[in-house]
Amino acid sequence: MGVTKNIGVLPGDGIGPEVVQEAIKVLDAIAEAYGHKFNYAYGDVGAVAIDKTGNPLPDETLKVCEKSDAFLFGAIGHPKYDNDPSAKVRPEQGLLKLRKSLGLFANIRPVTAYDSLLHMSPLKTERVQGVDIVVYRELTGGIYFGNKGRTENGAYDHCEYSDFEIDRISKLAFEAAMNRSKRVTLVDKANVLETSRLWRERVNEIAKDYPEVELDCMFVDNAAMQMIQNPKHFDVILTENMFGDIISDEASVIGGSLGLLPSASVGEKTAMFEPIHGSYPQAAGQNIANPIATILSAAMMLDHLGLIDEAIDVRQAVNSSMRNGMVTQDIAKGEGFGTDRVGDFIANFVLDGEESLATSNMKLGISTII
Ligand code: IPM
Ligand code: MG
Repeated sequence: MGVTKNIGVLPGDGIGPEVVQEAIKVLDAIAEAYGHKFNYAYGDVGAVAIDKTGNPLPDETLKVCEKSDAFLFGAIGHPKYDNDPSAKVRPEQGLLKLRKSLGLFANIRPVTAYDSLLHMSPLKTERVQGVDIVVYRELTGGIYFGNKGRTENGAYDHCEYSDFEIDRISKLAFEAAMNRSKRVTLVDKANVLETSRLWRERVNEIAKDYPEVELDCMFVDNAAMQMIQNPKHFDVILTENMFGDIISDEASVIGGSLGLLPSASVGEKTAMFEPIHGSYPQAAGQNIANPIATILSAAMMLDHLGLIDEAIDVRQAVNSSMRNGMVTQDIAKGEGFGTDRVGDFIANFVLDGEESLATSNMKLGISTII
């Protein structure tokens, strides 16, 4: 039986619109293959929204998201704001407001090292081969959202956490660990910070409900070091907002390509799915951006919506595109293909499986390379 889902679409800035378009192509292929109906509603966010309305997150966009079962997000950010730290209105405010207003408290970032890309990793192959990490970052609390301000001769940013905020994301991380290799690493700074001591207390408490899961606690400075020295130590990483921001960026480069990494930001009502690579303004409009991270974000969305087989199909299509070199120039051995071609290939593979390979190759005028 086909299902109907309302999907918000926030393409945003830079390469956002191009990569989102390819993810929609793939979702359309899934809808066709399974008889689902996806109703898309579009909204502006980031620099494009500031240019049109003066607001990085207009109310209409927020409404689109509130009404959605889930939404796709491209990217935000534009150099004209990055070079002006005093700018009062900034694209990033749109993202932070989205997270807070919609209560998107759990940021989930999987990092997988693909064998075909190991040569692109800054780390030695033997260290990264087999890395499979997922970071659970708390996203609506901590120093990002505490009181902040200026004093006569200084400034402050308060970091606060409640039991409730810690518990709800910790449960998600432990649930995830149960479906993986049953290990959670809590990353904190409990030797210095009171909030970190509360995290340890609460997480140890929650761990009692998951006796099969092995919990280790690691100071963030040590974790930053281990991520380089022995990334295979990690499976599920659970951490607060600021440490998660930093450690997830560190983790994201070890696999060799940012262009492949999806993410989810999950709340009670809706959830947002976005590539982690950002707006990459230099590449905008050139049809060279890698759409795979956004397509894999759409796969995470399908999982979230309970469409598990559909998500598997998308991942299989992506794997096939990588195996067969149907990829953009950033990860191609040769010249690579355009953003739209890669999207076409993946969408066709969803519909026709291996058969699409021959037809795509014929259309592209290259020989079959299976
Ligand atoms: C991220 C980004 C954001 C963050 C910025 C753009 C506000 O770095 O999603 O990790 O710090 O959370
Ligand atoms: Mg970040």
